[in-house]
Amino acid sequence: MKRIGVFTSGGDAPGMNACVRAVVRNGIYNGLEIIGIQYGYEGMIEGRFVDLQARSVSNIIQRGGTILRTARSEQFRTVEGRAEAAKNLKSAGVEGLVAIGGDGTFQGATKLLDEHAFPIIGVPGTIDNDLYGTDYTIGYDTAVNTAMEAIDKIRDTAASHDRLFYVEVMGRDAGFIAVDVGISSGSEHIATPETHTNIADLKDALIASKGHKSSAIIIVAEGEESGGALSLAEKIKDAAGYDYRICVLGHIQRGGSPTARDRLLASRLGVAAVDALLEGQSGMMVGEIHGKVSFTPLKEAWTQRKTIDKDLWRLASILAT
Ligand code: F6P
Repeated sequence: MKRIGVFTSGGDAPGMNACVRAVVRNGIYNGLEIIGIQYGYEGMIEGRFVDLQARSVSNIIQRGGTILRTARSEQFRTVEGRAEAAKNLKSAGVEGLVAIGGDGTFQGATKLLDEHAFPIIGVPGTIDNDLYGTDYTIGYDTAVNTAMEAIDKIRDTAASHDRLFYVEVMGRDAGFIAVDVGISSGSEHIATPETHTNIADLKDALIASKGHKSSAIIIVAEGEESGGALSLAEKIKDAAGYDYRICVLGHIQRGGSPTARDRLLASRLGVAAVDALLEGQSGMMVGEIHGKVSFTPLKEAWTQRKTIDKDLWRLASILAT
């Protein structure tokens, strides 16, 4: 193998740059040429390839976003789009790929591998942490810390005004962010796509808490069954007697300088992805389980469901009393 490509795809995540840097530097260390593919699969179809040298990735380990840009490609969902992408990769002499992204990225990677036998290693990069085969995804730790810091500020104003806040965090299909943020910000209730919120019970709990707490915070994952913070608030209204406000944290959770934990994970997995390609591995996602680098078939990473530790729910409800 002489030349490999690296790309980021889907929603950006803090730490993607640190991962690109690790791929480029380890590739060059091993005598490879590195091609950066801009705008993910869309750029693969459009032939947006750039040469990357060791210095091309200087001063990016601390930067959020992705220097390679990213996109969600509709064209790549078609057989024709994928054939065009494979043709472009071959004519650019790319012999292997490192794909940094989430479930959508890995669905695309699986198809590229099945249809065009393109050697490919996936690296989990998404704030959602919803990939099977890794304890954490790149960007998750930063997103949780960003949301927690924002909620600490909301707590100040909630307490000053004796208010109830519904705070929506990201997570269309998974509640990992919501649960970790809920516990670390001391929230009163956490609603996620994985759980059912009984509205009558929640009203009762809020009425009970109003007796001894002057303010409260409910964390709502965007993919929660009622449809997010706005809809959940609409169902409860002021039933508990609280004056309430709604705050949607949104894309603020996707930006910012990655935490040390995300930079380390990204560096480790980026290096491991290149090593894996050089060893002849393909169709795998490199992740970290119990502190060790591990490999999981790409397809399992997005078809198997990673579950939230049940003990965290218990913890959240004990601590919210
Ligand atoms: O997958 C990451 C994520 O941030 C989800 O949590 C969120 O639902 C989605 O991306 C938002 O995507 P977009 O930036 O395309 O609106």
